[in-house]
Amino acid sequence: MSKKKLLVLTGGGDCPGLNAVIRAIVKSAERQGDWEVWGSIEAFNGVLHEPFEIIPLTNEAVKGIHVKGGTIIKTTNKGNPMKFGIKQDDGSFIYKDLTQQLISNLKKLEIDAIINIGGDGSQAISQHLFEQGINIVGVPKTIDNDLNSTDLTFGFTTAVQIATDAFDKLVTTASSHNRVMILEVMGRDAGWIALHTALAGGAEICLIPEIPFSLDKVVDEINKRYDHGRGFVNIVIAEGAKLNDQIIGSNAEGDLNIKLGGVGNALRRALEEKGCEPDIRVAVLGHIQRGGTPIAFDRLIATAFGVKAFELVENGEFGKMACYNNYKVESTTIQSAISTYKHIAEDHYLVKTARSVGISFGE
Ligand code: F6P
Repeated sequence: MSKKKLLVLTGGGDCPGLNAVIRAIVKSAERQGDWEVWGSIEAFNGVLHEPFEIIPLTNEAVKGIHVKGGTIIKTTNKGNPMKFGIKQDDGSFIYKDLTQQLISNLKKLEIDAIINIGGDGSQAISQHLFEQGINIVGVPKTIDNDLNSTDLTFGFTTAVQIATDAFDKLVTTASSHNRVMILEVMGRDAGWIALHTALAGGAEICLIPEIPFSLDKVVDEINKRYDHGRGFVNIVIAEGAKLNDQIIGSNAEGDLNIKLGGVGNALRRALEEKGCEPDIRVAVLGHIQRGGTPIAFDRLIATAFGVKAFELVENGEFGKMACYNNYKVESTTIQSAISTYKHIAEDHYLVKTARSVGISFGE
C-alpha cells in the first residue's frame, strides 16, 4: 500500500525552533510508518506555482536540525494564497485570491494532509483552507507570543533570552555614562518580549502596546532616578508601542503589513524635545531576536508541538492546532487561536509583579 502524503510548511517570520518542529514531525511519521513527509519551500509558494518546489523530508534530511535557527524549508510573509501579491510592470502590486489554484495543485500532488507551522497570519490561512475541505493542522509559532489559546509559542523564550542578554550589557554602559538607554525589542501587537525582558533585566521603564504611556510621565520617572546629573535609566520599548497614539513604521513594497521599527529613536527625540536632560542612547535589536539557535526549552516545546501535530494528523483531527497550556502540550481549534490576539491583560500577574518591583509603564 502506498503511503499517505503529509505536506509541512513554515510561514511568516522565522523563529528559533522551526527546525525542531519539522524534525519531530518527520521522526514521528517515520516511526508510525503510514506517511511520507514533504516540505513546501517558502510556505505555500512551493505549491502555488509550477514547477512545484516541494522536497522529501526524511530522517536523513532532518538529522541534527533541531539545534539550528531558521527553517530548512524557508519561509515568507508574502505567500498568502488568499491575497497573493503580484508585481506589476510599474512596480505596484495587485492582490489575487489563489485559493482554488492552491487546492487544485494540492490535489495534483496527492497531498492528504498539511501541517502549517506559523503565527496568526499563517493560521488564518489554515482556517480558510480547512473551511474549504483541506485536511490541515496548525503549530503555533511566533517570537511575539501573541497567538491566542496557547500560553506559549516556541521561539518566544529564546527571543526573551537574547533581549535580556542585550539588556544586561546596556545596563553597565548606562550606569558608566549616567545615561538613559532605550532598548527597542520586537512585539508587533503585544508586549510580551518587552515585559519579560524588563522584568528579567530589571528595567526602570517598560513601554508596551497594551498600556498607553505619557511622555511627561516617562520624563518624571527618568528625573526621579537622577541626582545632580548622576544616575541612569534603562527603558525597554516594544516596537508596536504607540508614541503619541501613533505606531512607528512604514509599509514595505508589496507587503500588506506595516514594517515596524524606529519607535526607540522616536522616543529618544520626543524625550529630548520635552527637555529630558540626561544623554539618551538607543539600541534596536530587530531580527537578532529571531536568529540563531533555540534555547533548550524552545527545542523541547517545538519537538513536543511537532509530535502533537503529527498525532492530530494521524487521528484525523483537522482544523486543530497544537498548543501549550498549564505545562502541557495539548490541542485547540485553529479558529479559537486566531479569534483574537493574546494581549497582555492589565491584571496579568507579570504586570502586577513589574509594578511591585517599581517598573513604570509610563502611565
Ligand atoms: O511577528 C513576529 C515579528 O518578529 C514582529 O515582531 C515583527 O514586527 C515582524 O515579525 C517583522 O517581520 P519581518 O521579518 O517581515 O520584518
